[in-house]
Amino acid sequence: MTVNVGYLDKRAGKGFFPIQNPETEIWYPCNPDSVWRYASRALSGENTKIKTRFMEDWIADRRIRFPPNEKVVVWSSKEELLSAIRVGDVPKSGRSPMLREELPDLDFWVGKKVGFGTPRFKRYKKDLRSPTQPLSSWITPRSEIDTIEAGVNAIVSGTNDEGAKVIKDVFGEKAFNYAKPVSLIRELIRQSTGLADIVLDFFAGSATTAQAVMELNAEDGGDRRFIMVSSTERTEAEPDKNLCRDVTAGRIRGLNRTDDGKYAELSAGFAYLVTREIDFSDLDYDLTPQEVWSALEAIHGLSLTVYDETLPFNAHDSDDVTLVFSDRPDERLRGYIESLGPGQSTFVYVWAPGALRDWTLGEATEVRSVHDTLKQRFQQ
Ligand SMILES: C[S@@+](CC[C@H](N)C(=O)[O-])C[C@H]1O[C@@H](n2cnc3c(N)ncnc32)[C@H](O)[C@@H]1O
Repeated sequence: MTVNVGYLDKRAGKGFFPIQNPETEIWYPCNPDSVWRYASRALSGENTKIKTRFMEDWIADRRIRFPPNEKVVVWSSKEELLSAIRVGDVPKSGRSPMLREELPDLDFWVGKKVGFGTPRFKRYKKDLRSPTQPLSSWITPRSEIDTIEAGVNAIVSGTNDEGAKVIKDVFGEKAFNYAKPVSLIRELIRQSTGLADIVLDFFAGSATTAQAVMELNAEDGGDRRFIMVSSTERTEAEPDKNLCRDVTAGRIRGLNRTDDGKYAELSAGFAYLVTREIDFSDLDYDLTPQEVWSALEAIHGLSLTVYDETLPFNAHDSDDVTLVFSDRPDERLRGYIESLGPGQSTFVYVWAPGALRDWTLGEATEVRSVHDTLKQRFQQ
């Protein structure tokens, strides 16, 4: 039910607020690092229109599953709440506490029943889009939209002029020739994907496909992800040219940043990565810690972060898993992983797992070899 946007981010809109189970009257905090996907009507105002539905409507329709048999507490004073925050005895997302001293309206949580479980969104199978809806193969130009017969599932598309206009909006200039119309790609993706699919475009050019995915997600609340691949188009005459960085990734950055009302709802966290070929025999010598870290984060389905080489190890916490990588052996890593609680499943990646043989590890902690993992994953 959340999107990966912090509550102070302007894209969070009216998505940061507590919700209540109307049956048990238990309250649930919003994760300050990932706000609710659905805005609150009370916060937005009665007259606001949104593309999906308000959280209040989903709750009233019983589309939110509140956790049964969870821990519930009532803090009878602000002091009691603050000391619970200080010892970390508050609802958490993964390891990160959802109630923090610096948050606004902390008083709200005093004297109320507060649940430690996670509310979830219910999706019914019957509402899932079939991945193979029958479709008319005829693409109707927008100017002929009146000619579509009732009941026919037809694709309506703009023309290349539409593609060119969006490029001008985002870059302020004609940064790419013959960009496809977003509407065409968007309708093709609408027909062929489910809400959580990954859309791959191996010749992404100006990243029309990325914008189409962002538009569809904004429209139907989907979680589709995209992978855009494109070449630099570098030549001897233009050795610094990097079309992929400047145009493909540039368009996605531009759409994230723009205040232009037409694109204001579009957002997509993404990483710009450069591939390079490397021999398996050279892995241990040639890979930078950042490259290892990005690969491991991707393998575990985590968002990509910057590896801080000044630390003895880096750790990435998520709701489901904690990822740890240490580029060189260090006693501080031992202190950290021996102090981990039994609950959260943790994968510790090191180059030489044998060196950790005598360490006492919790049941949910697993030590893995970087070399073997990457080799297994990437070997053809
Ligand atoms: C026709 S354009 C794609 C246009 C795109 N549909 C749009 O609307 O912007 C094809 C793109 O593929 C890129 N390309 C060509 N060869 C490639 C390769 N081997 N790998 C990745 N990208 C490549 C080109 O640089 C060009 O930007």
